[in-house]
Amino acid sequence: MLLQDILYSQGFGTRRVCAGLIQQGFVTIAGAVVADSAVDVAAQGLRFTVQGTEWEYHEKAYLMLHKPAGTECSQKPSTWPSIYTLLPSPLRLRPNKGAVQGVQAIGRLDQDTTGLLLLTDDGQFIHRMGSPKHHVPKVYEVTVKHPLDEGQLQKLLAGVVLDDDPKPVLAAACEAVAPLHLRLTLTEGKYHQVKRMVAAVGNRVEALHRSSIGALALPEDLAPGQWRWLSAEQVEALRSAR
Ligand code: URA
Repeated sequence: MLLQDILYSQGFGTRRVCAGLIQQGFVTIAGAVVADSAVDVAAQGLRFTVQGTEWEYHEKAYLMLHKPAGTECSQKPSTWPSIYTLLPSPLRLRPNKGAVQGVQAIGRLDQDTTGLLLLTDDGQFIHRMGSPKHHVPKVYEVTVKHPLDEGQLQKLLAGVVLDDDPKPVLAAACEAVAPLHLRLTLTEGKYHQVKRMVAAVGNRVEALHRSSIGALALPEDLAPGQWRWLSAEQVEALRSAR
């Protein structure tokens, strides 16, 4: 693949901008400047730097973000900063069929919710992960206002009716880790689902954190606001989870 096309595909700007970056000596591979924008290089696994920023070629981008509190999962946030401001600009500028599109969050977390969020520029993957047929379990660590009791746990497992749908929604699993710490596993993603389910059993969410999606747990060393590429194995496990 031509080096200028590689840079373009990764979100470093238009083809002309990418050719210019290379020709001006801003791009290195294995520590050496490569100033020929039309040089053919193997894209897979390629590591390079652009103006000192290290980058790794990914045909499609799949990443996890530790969403901090006080951020919105919207490209056009209303009140809080967007989670997209936490990502380097190439991830926000990756082209898709000729247009700048960048990565998108798979589902949304509330402004005050923290934890694991997946992002990608693979439309099919977003569709698969969001499909109601694809029941990927998501685990939430919930701090509740009132001490939990067995009745609340049983109701969450049996199903509670929310105001927008007569069909009950149930927790796939739930456990009182401590009197004020509920661990809840859901396989759907309705609007404010955890908060509404907990309210429906007479309690209240004080803090909410998503700790895992399918087999993927938020790594302990990924601090709030940090992101990381998913490995091919992690993507495959999410894709085939059910
Ligand atoms: N359920 C909620 O109520 N909020 C979230 O952010 C995620 C799940």
